[in-house]
Amino acid sequence: MKIALVGATGLVGGVMRKVLEERGFGDCELIPAASARSVGKKVTFAGKVCNVVSVEEAIEQAPEYAIFSAGSGPSLQYAPLFAQKGTVVIDNSSAWRSDPDIPLVVPEINGDVIRPADHIIANPNCSTIQMVMALAPLHKRYRIKRIVVSTYQSITGTGMKAVNQLAKERAGEPCDMAYPYQIDMNLFPHGGTFEENGYTTEETKLLNETRKILRDNEIGVSATVVRVPVTGGHSESVNVEFYEDFEMSEVYDLLNNMPGVVVQDNPAENLYPMPLFAKDKDEVFVGRIRRDFSQPKTLNLWVVADNLRKGAATNAIQIMQMLVNR
Ligand code: A2P
Repeated sequence: MKIALVGATGLVGGVMRKVLEERGFGDCELIPAASARSVGKKVTFAGKVCNVVSVEEAIEQAPEYAIFSAGSGPSLQYAPLFAQKGTVVIDNSSAWRSDPDIPLVVPEINGDVIRPADHIIANPNCSTIQMVMALAPLHKRYRIKRIVVSTYQSITGTGMKAVNQLAKERAGEPCDMAYPYQIDMNLFPHGGTFEENGYTTEETKLLNETRKILRDNEIGVSATVVRVPVTGGHSESVNVEFYEDFEMSEVYDLLNNMPGVVVQDNPAENLYPMPLFAKDKDEVFVGRIRRDFSQPKTLNLWVVADNLRKGAATNAIQIMQMLVNR
């Protein structure tokens, strides 16, 4: 089987190569593609050295699958060209997520929405994936009315340039800025770009993608996205109001039984999810699970996951794995 990886030289591209190997795709022929700047560079995959090619050349080879992590522009331009060749595209950018004809998939939740004819499948935003992983089993049982979420997002979500910015700032050296401000010793309530209504694009994704994945357009989401000088994963403080009341013991059972979710919640031992634990792990970690006593039928959760893994590479490769198994 041939797999094209568009954005193979990027931060997520590197994790994609690792996760592909871990999940048994090491024998596949990898076609690493990136921008014209990188053509001819080498990347490693499953112990082999592969040449980076242009996206056009990758399309010519008509691979069975193409996984994209190169931003929205290349996805809009090239995904349809792969699809015309019969390739199934799994796209990690926001280019196709809100298109009603394109499935937006977290395999543990709504893998069933992919139809045999689908040739472009969207991978959700990293902060949405980890939040819906924790909320999907609770939504099924109690139905969510409204979510108030504040995120504490790792700089790795912005890509290589942001990782370089933080490293250089820590070393006291000048650098190209990925953000409008210094990120070391700082944080800012700003992810993506500002929209006319005062929210950022990253905040709007949390609303629209949650509704689409959980198949409920009445869910309210009020989000504040914060970028923090952390690597290893995104954290989220989630306050969720349901239509039905719940028993705490059942909430624990539902979370413990959700595939891909790990409950880490023992205040007596200072056990709660942290990016330091979540780094390089595929699971979504949930802790600080508490009833919100300020209003009925409302729960607080703290949700952490490695945004480069379940938030990006792992989820995309799980989608491919599911299709291969079909
Ligand atoms: P390149 O390394 O040639 O710039 P990151 O998010 O870590 O910055 O990575 C972005 C990835 O997307 C890189 O692999 C980058 O390649 C790739 N990329 C950026 N623009 C394009 C483009 N126009 N066509 C193909 N790949 C692109």
